[in-house]
Amino acid sequence: QYKRTFQFPLPIPPVKAPSKTIINPITGKNILYYEVEIKEFQSQIYPDRGPATLWGYDGISPGPTFIVEKGTETVVRFINNARLANSVHLHGSYSRAPFDGWAEDITPPGWYKDYYYPNSQSGRTLWYHDHAIDHTAENAYYGQAGTYILSDPAIESPLGLPSGYGTTDIPLILSAKQYTPSGSLFSPAAETTSLYGDVIHVNGQPWPFLNVEPRKYRFRFLDASISRSFLLYFERDAKIGTKVGFDVIASDAGLLTAPQRTNELYISMAERYEVVVDFAAYKGENITLKNARDVGADRDYPDTDKVMRFIVSGTAVNDESRVPSTLRTVPFPKPKNQVDQHFKFERSNGEWKINGVSFADVANRVLARPKRGTVEVWELVDSSGGWTHPIHIHLVDFRVKKRVNGKRSVLPYEAQGLKDVVWLGPGETVTVEAHYAPWDGVYMFHCHNLIHEDHEMMAVFNVSVLQD
Ligand code: C2O
Ligand code: CU
Repeated sequence: QYKRTFQFPLPIPPVKAPSKTIINPITGKNILYYEVEIKEFQSQIYPDRGPATLWGYDGISPGPTFIVEKGTETVVRFINNARLANSVHLHGSYSRAPFDGWAEDITPPGWYKDYYYPNSQSGRTLWYHDHAIDHTAENAYYGQAGTYILSDPAIESPLGLPSGYGTTDIPLILSAKQYTPSGSLFSPAAETTSLYGDVIHVNGQPWPFLNVEPRKYRFRFLDASISRSFLLYFERDAKIGTKVGFDVIASDAGLLTAPQRTNELYISMAERYEVVVDFAAYKGENITLKNARDVGADRDYPDTDKVMRFIVSGTAVNDESRVPSTLRTVPFPKPKNQVDQHFKFERSNGEWKINGVSFADVANRVLARPKRGTVEVWELVDSSGGWTHPIHIHLVDFRVKKRVNGKRSVLPYEAQGLKDVVWLGPGETVTVEAHYAPWDGVYMFHCHNLIHEDHEMMAVFNVSVLQD
């Protein structure tokens, strides 16, 4: 067991600097060019065991944070010096199909690929991670995941939210892993259902602490675990059982219409939620970020109910940041009544499938052909019996319309923004509505339990052009 919870500080992933500016030959505009090398490194996770060998972007995990302003195009050269082939997906970006991390578009060790990103969507917290066929879980778990912040100063600056990357605007990247007695990572390669992990990490550090001032902070949560979902809450150590309220301000596709006050947050794999927590009332106290027991269908271990600790200083500070009562106009798709597609997420003969099809079934795996520029409503049904499947649809931002047959309905913070992953709980039916645009092309949709994804719970949709 890991005995040193809350003993080590929260690491903040460094900001990635571009190595040069190049000119887009078509538009004449500047493109920021970056180079990232995927390579092996050692990470001392257990103070009393050997180091773990990981493979990460730039040799760190999480990888460096990209901070890019809306409207600035980027090209990132991902150089593969790791042991397995890879494919990089920028999750949350409407990338053109050749740059979307298609699972079979793999870069073998010793090769590189240049990815082009338009960055013209609304401001949001994206993440980049491996998407290689059959090895996504392993590659992501061994380190290939990082944050990519698309900022939109025109919308965000006037709001006055807490700001400043690494100071009062902080990414909190959650993951859950398991280690061997020698300190190396226990591999998920042989797993076929889930690897929940008994060690909770934030930004790569098990159960860290963060010193904070009694003021407001913006935290960008990402659940980068391969199989674990969370129900997070902040608890006062001085008053166990007392939850600290906070505002959810953004989800996968950026700011919500208005802040949603809550004291607990459901977050499943690949989902992002941004929250503002005000520590002003807790001078000199410790606030612990906790995870509820019995979340989804997850397996619990002794310390999986804890995440990290905030140590609030006793000295008052002047805090000019605020959480305005409205945030932005969210471009929801035009509402539509009928359901266009029905998808069943199932388990049969020890395999994970969508409508009976697995990704390996190349002849049958295109399950939908939305016409470009139209709105479609997709109904997602868990019929696998007792599993959580966070469903991710590439390319689009969707509205979560309805959730039935489970323990809860659509949560206010799910409904007030656009998303690209939705938590599909055991037995649930969730309905999502999206505008299939701006490009045509062949894209994936799948379960973001990466072990399910690698075991074929992935299919394809082809956005095509309507003839007139
Ligand atoms: Cu976050 Cu298809 O992935
Ligand atoms: Cu799943």
